[in-house]
Amino acid sequence: MATFPIESQKTAQIRFTLNGEETDLSFAPYKTLLEVLREDLGHTGTKHGCELGECGACAVLLDGKPVLSCLVLALECNGRKVLTVEGLSGDGRLHPLQDAFADLGAAQCGYCTPGILVTAKALLDANPHPGRDQIREALSGNLCRCTGYLQIFEAVEAAMVKIAENGKVSVE
Ligand code: FES
Ligand code: FES
Repeated sequence: MATFPIESQKTAQIRFTLNGEETDLSFAPYKTLLEVLREDLGHTGTKHGCELGECGACAVLLDGKPVLSCLVLALECNGRKVLTVEGLSGDGRLHPLQDAFADLGAAQCGYCTPGILVTAKALLDANPHPGRDQIREALSGNLCRCTGYLQIFEAVEAAMVKIAENGKVSVE
Protein backbone atom coordinates (compact mmCIF):
# COMPACT_ATOMS: atom_id res chain seq x y z
CA MET A 1 0.00 0.00 0.00
CA ALA A 2 1.35 3.42 -0.92
CA THR A 3 2.30 5.75 1.88
CA PHE A 4 0.81 9.09 1.02
CA PRO A 5 2.48 12.38 1.76
CA ILE A 6 1.56 14.50 4.73
CA GLU A 7 2.90 17.91 5.55
CA SER A 8 5.87 16.68 7.56
CA GLN A 9 6.63 13.61 5.48
CA LYS A 10 9.69 13.84 3.30
CA THR A 11 9.49 10.52 1.49
CA ALA A 12 6.86 8.24 0.03
CA GLN A 13 7.20 4.50 -0.47
CA ILE A 14 5.76 2.30 -3.14
CA ARG A 15 6.20 -1.26 -4.35
CA PHE A 16 5.71 -1.85 -8.03
CA THR A 17 6.91 -4.10 -10.83
CA LEU A 18 9.51 -2.46 -13.02
CA ASN A 19 10.46 -4.34 -16.15
CA GLY A 20 9.38 -7.61 -14.59
CA GLU A 21 11.09 -7.09 -11.20
CA GLU A 22 9.43 -6.29 -7.89
CA THR A 23 10.83 -2.93 -6.86
CA ASP A 24 10.58 -1.06 -3.56
CA LEU A 25 11.18 2.63 -3.79
CA SER A 26 11.37 5.64 -1.48
CA PHE A 27 11.21 9.06 -3.07
CA ALA A 28 10.09 12.62 -2.60
CA PRO A 29 6.28 12.39 -2.85
CA TYR A 30 5.90 15.19 -5.38
CA LYS A 31 7.99 13.37 -8.01
CA THR A 32 6.64 12.18 -11.32
CA LEU A 33 7.19 8.70 -12.65
CA LEU A 34 9.65 10.18 -15.15
CA GLU A 35 11.65 11.75 -12.34
CA VAL A 36 11.88 8.63 -10.20
CA LEU A 37 12.78 6.46 -13.18
CA ARG A 38 15.65 8.72 -14.19
CA GLU A 39 16.78 10.25 -10.90
CA ASP A 40 16.01 7.61 -8.26
CA LEU A 41 16.36 4.42 -10.30
CA GLY A 42 18.94 5.42 -12.92
CA HIS A 43 16.71 4.28 -15.77
CA THR A 44 17.68 7.03 -18.17
CA GLY A 45 16.38 5.28 -21.27
CA THR A 46 13.08 7.08 -20.77
CA LYS A 47 13.68 10.57 -22.08
CA HIS A 48 12.96 13.91 -20.54
CA GLY A 49 11.39 16.18 -23.13
CA CYS A 50 8.76 18.88 -22.79
CA GLU A 51 7.31 17.85 -19.39
CA LEU A 52 4.00 19.15 -20.72
CA GLY A 53 2.51 16.02 -22.23
CA GLU A 54 3.22 17.19 -25.76
CA CYS A 55 6.24 15.29 -27.10
CA GLY A 56 5.89 11.62 -26.09
CA ALA A 57 9.61 11.26 -25.32
CA CYS A 58 8.78 10.13 -21.78
CA ALA A 59 6.27 7.40 -22.75
CA VAL A 60 6.34 4.15 -20.77
CA LEU A 61 3.79 1.38 -20.34
CA LEU A 62 1.71 1.35 -17.16
CA ASP A 63 -0.15 -1.95 -16.83
CA GLY A 64 0.52 -2.48 -20.53
CA LYS A 65 -0.86 0.84 -21.73
CA PRO A 66 1.19 3.83 -22.88
CA VAL A 67 1.31 6.78 -20.49
CA LEU A 68 3.31 9.97 -20.47
CA SER A 69 5.49 9.50 -17.41
CA CYS A 70 5.99 13.27 -17.03
CA LEU A 71 2.27 13.52 -16.22
CA VAL A 72 2.01 10.53 -13.85
CA LEU A 73 2.87 10.85 -10.18
CA ALA A 74 5.11 8.01 -9.04
CA LEU A 75 2.68 7.49 -6.16
CA GLU A 76 0.07 6.40 -8.70
CA CYS A 77 2.24 3.41 -9.64
CA ASN A 78 1.98 1.55 -6.35
CA GLY A 79 1.12 -2.10 -7.03
CA ARG A 80 1.22 -1.62 -10.78
CA LYS A 81 3.45 -2.75 -13.65
CA VAL A 82 5.76 -0.34 -15.42
CA LEU A 83 7.67 -1.20 -18.57
CA THR A 84 10.39 1.08 -19.89
CA VAL A 85 12.63 0.71 -22.91
CA GLU A 86 15.20 -1.02 -20.68
CA GLY A 87 12.72 -3.87 -20.26
CA LEU A 88 12.07 -4.46 -23.95
CA SER A 89 14.98 -6.79 -24.57
CA GLY A 90 15.28 -10.12 -22.82
CA ASP A 91 17.55 -13.18 -22.69
CA GLY A 92 20.28 -11.15 -24.36
CA ARG A 93 18.15 -10.47 -27.41
CA LEU A 94 16.67 -7.25 -28.65
CA HIS A 95 12.93 -6.98 -29.11
CA PRO A 96 11.97 -7.29 -32.81
CA LEU A 97 10.97 -3.62 -32.74
CA GLN A 98 14.49 -2.66 -31.63
CA ASP A 99 16.03 -4.81 -34.37
CA ALA A 100 13.75 -3.30 -37.00
CA PHE A 101 14.40 0.28 -35.87
CA ALA A 102 18.15 -0.32 -36.09
CA ASP A 103 17.95 -2.10 -39.45
CA LEU A 104 15.69 0.45 -41.14
CA GLY A 105 17.15 3.70 -39.84
CA ALA A 106 14.09 4.48 -37.74
CA ALA A 107 16.28 5.72 -34.88
CA GLN A 108 18.45 8.66 -35.86
CA CYS A 109 19.29 10.99 -32.96
CA GLY A 110 17.30 8.47 -30.89
CA TYR A 111 15.70 10.90 -28.49
CA CYS A 112 12.16 9.96 -29.44
CA THR A 113 12.97 6.26 -29.87
CA PRO A 114 12.37 4.85 -26.37
CA GLY A 115 8.90 6.37 -26.20
CA ILE A 116 8.06 5.21 -29.69
CA LEU A 117 9.32 1.68 -29.06
CA VAL A 118 7.19 1.12 -25.97
CA THR A 119 4.15 2.74 -27.58
CA ALA A 120 4.56 0.52 -30.64
CA LYS A 121 4.94 -2.52 -28.39
CA ALA A 122 1.62 -1.72 -26.71
CA LEU A 123 0.01 -1.41 -30.13
CA LEU A 124 1.36 -4.75 -31.37
CA ASP A 125 0.42 -6.48 -28.12
CA ALA A 126 -3.16 -5.23 -28.47
CA ASN A 127 -3.40 -5.56 -32.24
CA PRO A 128 -0.86 -7.90 -33.84
CA HIS A 129 -1.75 -6.77 -37.37
CA PRO A 130 -2.32 -3.02 -37.42
CA GLY A 131 -2.64 -1.18 -40.70
CA ARG A 132 -0.54 1.86 -41.52
CA ASP A 133 -3.29 4.22 -40.35
CA GLN A 134 -3.55 2.44 -37.01
CA ILE A 135 0.21 2.64 -36.54
CA ARG A 136 0.15 6.33 -37.44
CA GLU A 137 -2.66 6.97 -34.98
CA ALA A 138 -1.02 5.00 -32.16
CA LEU A 139 2.19 6.99 -32.58
CA SER A 140 0.54 10.34 -33.15
CA GLY A 141 1.56 11.56 -29.69
CA ASN A 142 5.24 10.77 -30.22
CA LEU A 143 7.08 13.57 -31.96
CA CYS A 144 10.18 12.89 -34.06
CA ARG A 145 12.26 15.71 -35.48
CA CYS A 146 14.60 13.51 -37.50
CA THR A 147 13.01 10.74 -39.50
CA GLY A 148 9.91 12.14 -41.18
CA TYR A 149 8.15 9.11 -39.61
CA LEU A 150 8.23 6.91 -42.73
CA GLN A 151 11.09 4.74 -41.45
CA ILE A 152 9.34 4.47 -38.10
CA PHE A 153 6.12 3.19 -39.66
CA GLU A 154 8.07 0.78 -41.86
CA ALA A 155 10.04 -0.50 -38.87
CA VAL A 156 6.85 -1.17 -36.90
CA GLU A 157 5.48 -3.07 -39.90
CA ALA A 158 8.71 -5.08 -40.21
CA ALA A 159 8.59 -5.96 -36.51
CA MET A 160 4.95 -6.94 -36.89
CA VAL A 161 5.92 -9.46 -39.58
CA LYS A 162 8.81 -10.80 -37.53
CA ILE A 163 6.71 -11.20 -34.39
CA ALA A 164 4.04 -13.02 -36.39
CA GLU A 165 6.71 -15.39 -37.72
CA ASN A 166 8.52 -15.99 -34.44
CA GLY A 167 5.82 -15.66 -31.82
CA LYS A 168 5.18 -12.83 -29.43
CA VAL A 169 8.10 -11.37 -27.47
CA SER A 170 6.77 -9.75 -24.35
CA VAL A 171 7.90 -8.50 -20.97
CA GLU A 172 5.09 -7.82 -18.53
S1 FES B 1 8.36 14.89 -21.60
FE1 FES B 1 6.44 13.95 -21.30
S2 FES B 1 5.29 14.42 -23.08
FE2 FES B 1 7.16 15.52 -23.34
S1 FES C 1 15.13 10.10 -34.19
FE1 FES C 1 15.61 12.16 -33.55
S2 FES C 1 13.74 12.90 -32.73
FE2 FES C 1 13.22 10.98 -33.58
